[in-house]
Amino acid sequence: MKPQMFMVSLVFLAAAVQGICAEDIVTLRQADMKAIASATKAIAGMFKEPSTYSSAEFKWAAELIRDKAGQPLIDYFSAGAASPDSKAKPGIVEERKRFDRLAIDLGSYAGALAAAADRNPTAMTDGMRMKAGEPMGGGPLGTHVQSEIKLASIPAEHTFHLMLQTCTTCHVRFRME
Ligand code: HEC
Repeated sequence: MKPQMFMVSLVFLAAAVQGICAEDIVTLRQADMKAIASATKAIAGMFKEPSTYSSAEFKWAAELIRDKAGQPLIDYFSAGAASPDSKAKPGIVEERKRFDRLAIDLGSYAGALAAAADRNPTAMTDGMRMKAGEPMGGGPLGTHVQSEIKLASIPAEHTFHLMLQTCTTCHVRFRME
């Protein structure tokens, strides 16, 4: 084979490999999002029916979200992962900082929920619940996590609602309808 031909086939090979990877990444990240969604549902169910609360299950679900958030989520949406199978909007690369911040916040909220499960090993205590009249909106933190210490001092249910806002905020901006 002439060296030129060899180079051309290398380029094709690289393109082919990249093509496969992009599709794999989309499949993986969609599967991770689905796993995040079912973990979120499990936690929501326990807040709805506190008698079904299990510290271990709550923690497991929170840790699943925490571990899939942050850097792994950021890496899934690195440049070049666009694909026709994806529902991600093209703006992620341009608004990198905003996307990454939301991915990190998701992990911080989920981490705070896991810690709350540790502090409440036997039952869903009143301390985990939102107080009547507590503002549901951004609350004391706004939509972004400002400090982990503040986060540890608010009820887990409130943290959970802030986490849900993070899902929505990211989807509105970065996911197609
Ligand atoms: C930092 C941004 C971001 C955050 C935070 C986020 N998502 Fe997503 N999510 C996306 C993007 C982007 C997609 C589209 C992925 C694709 O199709 O490539 C998506 C897709 C999904 C899907 C569809 C998966 C599929 O099968 O196609 C579900 C369900 C989902 N997210 C649930 C959640 C839940 C629940 C939360 C919060 C606990 C959350 N997401 C937080 C960005 C985010």
